[in-house]
Amino acid sequence: MAIKIGIVGAGGMARYHYEGFVKAGAHVAAIADMNAKGAEVFAASRGIQNTYPSLTDMLKNEKELDAVSIITPNKFHKPLIIEALNAGKHVFCEKPPALNAVEMAEILEVQKSSGKKLLFDFNNRARPESQAMMQYIQAGRVGKIHSAQACWIRRAGIPGFGGWFTTKALSGGGPVIDLLHMIDLALYFMNYPEPAYLLGVTYNTFMDNKAFKGPWGIPDSANGVNDVESACHAMLTFKTGQCLFIRNSWAELNEREIVSVVFQGEKAGGKVERLFGTDGIDETSIDTCKIFVEEYGRQVDLAITAVPDETMGRVSAAANFIETLQGAAKPLNTPEEALILMKIIDGIYKSAETKKPVEF
Ligand SMILES: NC(=O)c1ccc[n+]([C@@H]2O[C@H](COP(=O)([O-])OP(=O)(O)OC[C@H]3O[C@@H](n4cnc5c(N)ncnc54)[C@H](O)[C@@H]3O)[C@@H](O)[C@H]2O)c1
Repeated sequence: MAIKIGIVGAGGMARYHYEGFVKAGAHVAAIADMNAKGAEVFAASRGIQNTYPSLTDMLKNEKELDAVSIITPNKFHKPLIIEALNAGKHVFCEKPPALNAVEMAEILEVQKSSGKKLLFDFNNRARPESQAMMQYIQAGRVGKIHSAQACWIRRAGIPGFGGWFTTKALSGGGPVIDLLHMIDLALYFMNYPEPAYLLGVTYNTFMDNKAFKGPWGIPDSANGVNDVESACHAMLTFKTGQCLFIRNSWAELNEREIVSVVFQGEKAGGKVERLFGTDGIDETSIDTCKIFVEEYGRQVDLAITAVPDETMGRVSAAANFIETLQGAAKPLNTPEEALILMKIIDGIYKSAETKKPVEF
């Protein structure tokens, strides 16, 4: 029997979840959105049978659901995950896992006692070049990764002014939490070590300048709030002796948008990078996957060709959730990793605010 899933949130990301679930053989039975029209339009275009104004209504009427997918603004992730887990459903939730580590710790408690699966949409792990790199790492070709640099820097990419993205109470923060993907990918390659110390700085230089608005995002809201950072720079050490540099920005005077993880290991270095052809446009992007080694006294670069993926792994990540439930694949991430990630994000904000190093 096909796994039955219900979606909560019919916004920009819903199409990727839907495509991934269907691709893996699941049946999307219902969609809930507080904006009834949005849910109806999405459902009609995909033949989804039922729409609801809330998760609560969906759970009341769709007793047979095996799983729920959550694609709402960040503030609602924790309450909706907990509601779905308590109703006995497996959960796939968009990133970030929660607004902060305290919320994520609460989620983890409920998940453990529920016995249900909980995966997050860290879609960049599912990109073909990330998986190719992971194969080399797991095969022992890289050795221990000593150091890494995680970078998602946009020059002019504020996702709309005054909407939920720029309102800290709704989003948890700006690019530090929104663009957490490369931090997560670096940690994934590094075997998710426990953090030791962190020193970070954030800036909000361009949060009042519409010239720094991205070509995508949500509509501006004239009376809305813009109280999040526009860029961050941080340095992190781990209990294992490893270290990580982090640069994230929505708006900073960089040459161009760069999305990359670069690392230096005992046996090889490596780089996974996405350069957008025209800033923000997936279709024309160039993905790189390279390994740097020494062979026979020479310095050698291996260029790994991976299948292009316009969706940046989003469809594959959603499919992985279903395949995990089917027992056909290993989960691409765990709630325990999500807690470490949220602790690091909290650490960046704390260090930036106190102007002091944070000890974990
Ligand atoms: N993985 C990625 O590449 C990626 C990219 C963009 C956004 N996201 C994440 O996806 C999530 C949603 O982002 P989006 O761009 O789709 O946002 P969006 O604003 O386009 O859509 C959110 C939808 O959720 C609905 N909603 C809000 N609260 C709700 C609630 N309590 N119950 C039911 N419906 C509710 C809204 O009406 C809206 O239709 C965010 O957490 C964001 O961080 C991930």
